[in-house]
Amino acid sequence: MRHLIDTTDITVAEVDQIINTALDIIENRAKYSEACKGKKLATLFYEPSTRTRLSFTSAMMELGGNVLGFSDAASSSVSKGETVADTVRVLGCFADIIAMRHSKEGAPLVASHYSDVPIINAGDGSHAHPTQTLTDLLTIRREKGRLDNLTIGFCGDLKFGRTVHSLIKALSRYEGINVVLIAPEELRLPSYIRREVCDKNNIPTREVATMEEVMPELDILYMTRVQKERFLDEEEYEMLKDSFILNAERLKNAKKDMIVLHPLPRVNEITRDVDNDPRAAYFRQVENGKFVRMALIYNLLEWSKERPTEATPRLDKNQINENLRCSNRQCISNVEDVDKLFYQTDSGEHRCVYCEAKVK
Ligand code: CP
Repeated sequence: MRHLIDTTDITVAEVDQIINTALDIIENRAKYSEACKGKKLATLFYEPSTRTRLSFTSAMMELGGNVLGFSDAASSSVSKGETVADTVRVLGCFADIIAMRHSKEGAPLVASHYSDVPIINAGDGSHAHPTQTLTDLLTIRREKGRLDNLTIGFCGDLKFGRTVHSLIKALSRYEGINVVLIAPEELRLPSYIRREVCDKNNIPTREVATMEEVMPELDILYMTRVQKERFLDEEEYEMLKDSFILNAERLKNAKKDMIVLHPLPRVNEITRDVDNDPRAAYFRQVENGKFVRMALIYNLLEWSKERPTEATPRLDKNQINENLRCSNRQCISNVEDVDKLFYQTDSGEHRCVYCEAKVK
């Protein structure tokens, strides 16, 4: 069974296939209006969402399918203590494909271990958000005409920003990518991503203190929100929340064809005076999210039908070790009773398969 838990669960060729399907959907909407007739998507959202959940819903409706699920775990039997594993086993009796968002990192991966239908990670804690990445890739392809030879600046919360983690992993598979990191010291990109994704793939990566100093070089500026819900200390959030604000004045030195992306929601990291600039692509990005999720649902269901025994490649290489523990308190393996799974990096250290944190 194929699932989408992490950006790298699908090959570059499969990403191309999904993007090309999305582009075909945009041109030929009627052709796909009954593509998923009789199929059901379950949306299991344990964490708030506007774009992801409703674009999945809209996507399945436009494919002629139906949608069921919950948008608040408190209204489901999760509130009675039902585990992720049992919940997906139950939902597999009702639905053909499941999209899950969870505050605990690795929860969608746990779901994939117990599910007889494809699981799509719709965002797990601070870890990953692969369908936002597909949205971003479709947007970059439509706006810039390519996915290679790009200088992209990531600005804001790069520590907890799951959209940043997933997009860096995805772009690291293309030629000529340059990454610029613009974040306060406290919200720097996790070192394992810098080391095991950027350095390993020879992606030139540098940190700068201000957006002004790199603005003229950038093809893409990827803004992110400082996420209040990820902080344990509210004072720290208050101190950091306004670290980087993009306004029309700061855009003056940018290339005429640079684009500004943001996964949204924004708070005040992009001022309203940027919205009418043609380079502000973040609302076009939202619409692309629906098209790419249509393409993903369509292709995952096709792959499951054509090759039902095919496994998600990355998930074959895990090792069970009941003696180790993940160091991340937000990891599902520290909250629910799941197999303790680890992988070994090139440097020999063990990392948790669910959230990629170091072991205790
Ligand atoms: N971009 C994104 O994931 O938005 P939502 O939290 O509204 O789904």
